[in-house]
Amino acid sequence: MHALPYLIDLPKILDDRGNLSFLQESDQIPFEVKRAYWIYDVPGGEVRGSHAFYRSHELIIALSGSFDVVVHDGSEEHVFSLKRSYYALYLPPMNWRTLRDFSTNSLAFVVASTEYHESDYIRSFETFQMAAGSPPCPNGHSS
Ligand code: TYD
Repeated sequence: MHALPYLIDLPKILDDRGNLSFLQESDQIPFEVKRAYWIYDVPGGEVRGSHAFYRSHELIIALSGSFDVVVHDGSEEHVFSLKRSYYALYLPPMNWRTLRDFSTNSLAFVVASTEYHESDYIRSFETFQMAAGSPPCPNGHSS
């Protein structure tokens, strides 16, 4: 059975001049960081993601605005609503994830454990379910 996603409560340095949060590899990130990318200027109603990774671990943070990360672990779906920059969603490999319901001006920041390799992507939900060890859903899947 593969690992499940969970939320990480990041440090908050509260200050009258403005607050500060951070992540550093040894404390808040449960993998070695190889890459960061970010998703922005998402038109209303658009959906990003809808894939899984064979090997890559990720942390996803809503640095600005809000969006939902819908995660399917092969048997169950979980919805994580990200709207605070001091929460990071940890996504181990082999979790199908879709980012949706982006607010205006939202900024999704992602740190990843691998460099970009298209071969690490699973872009078919059926392939994902077979690899995750569950039979395909008889009604299909809409993510
Ligand atoms: P992709 O991860 O497929 O985005 P989404 O799943 O949200 O549609 O990335 C879109 C394109 O961006 C992909 O075809 C290749 C490119 N890309 C990179 O070159 N490097 C990266 O680190 C990422 C994440 C994407």
